Amino acid sequence: MAGAVGLAEFLSRVDALRQEAVAAFHAASDTESLEKARIAYLGAKSGRLRALQKNLAGLDRADKPQAGQGFNRVKRDLDAALEAASKRIAQPVTAERSAGIFDPTVPGKQLSLGTIHPVTQTMLDVAEIMGRLGFTVAEGPEVEDEWHNFGALNIPRSHPARDPLDNFYLAVGGKSSPRQMLLRSQTSTVQIRVMERTRPPVRIISLGRVYRPDTADATHYPMFHQIEGLLVDQRVTMADLKSVLRLFAMSYFGGDVHIRFRPSFFPFTEPSVEVDMSWHEGWIEMGGAGMVDPHVLQAVGYDPEDVTGFAFGLGVERICMRRYGLTDIRHLYENDVRFLQQF
Ligand code: PHE
Repeated sequence: MAGAVGLAEFLSRVDALRQEAVAAFHAASDTESLEKARIAYLGAKSGRLRALQKNLAGLDRADKPQAGQGFNRVKRDLDAALEAASKRIAQPVTAERSAGIFDPTVPGKQLSLGTIHPVTQTMLDVAEIMGRLGFTVAEGPEVEDEWHNFGALNIPRSHPARDPLDNFYLAVGGKSSPRQMLLRSQTSTVQIRVMERTRPPVRIISLGRVYRPDTADATHYPMFHQIEGLLVDQRVTMADLKSVLRLFAMSYFGGDVHIRFRPSFFPFTEPSVEVDMSWHEGWIEMGGAGMVDPHVLQAVGYDPEDVTGFAFGLGVERICMRRYGLTDIRHLYENDVRFLQQF
């Protein structure tokens, strides 16, 4: 038995041991050094706490309860300190903690910036080029009424272009609704909206989404984008139309682009043409165009004897795909980051 120890002496030894053991657990930097410290202080056979505990027996009977409580409190503290140390060691080591300081030379985290979608970029490019040719950008709604999508564009009630199978009609307002609404099938709607609210001369483009219930394949998608152009003034001719389209194409593709017109038909232009462009080699159809039909000018209150105009509608995806050599329109709408990062 260890030499007789008084209560005060016992409690102060227990407390000294507590401080020493807590410091040792705290200093342990890995599982092995913590285990060594645990055995040294809390080991069941020859740990230092166990050795101290033996002194309890030699204390005066009256002091034993207080001594026992003090001992147990320290034992609990040490168990808690051991547990905290082992949790700390289990955590991953951060650069900051291992160095003990903040290291300003550690490279920062790389944040990845998004890029502008190629279709959006194409529309921005188009707006910039056409802006230099004096065209301002006009906008119209994607949810349209039949008057702006068809009627004012000289598309009669019985025309197949109005077929429900070729359009996204909307069930808004119910059957009693005086206005049947649909997702616009062409940006020519904006021609009407602009002419309704302005007097000639007019010189606008409009860029945006249009919707047609086509099955998606390499060249079709149920939603795509168009560039609409409209110029109305005195003595506007087909030659102006061709010049504007050629100047636009040469600026956009950057080189010698040829424009070819093929006779066509649209209810809202007369004469009407399909526009082909040739860049490097081969002809590619880019959209439709023509001289604004006198009926359309009348529908918006213009005098066809006084002014004439041209209009064109080109596919944004088509010119975008031609410029970047893309072969499948669906790539533009799959949101595959590996594809989009190339732009
Ligand atoms: N709106 C026509 C289409 O979508 C294109 C067009 C626009 C034709 C303007 C002539 C004039 O096919």
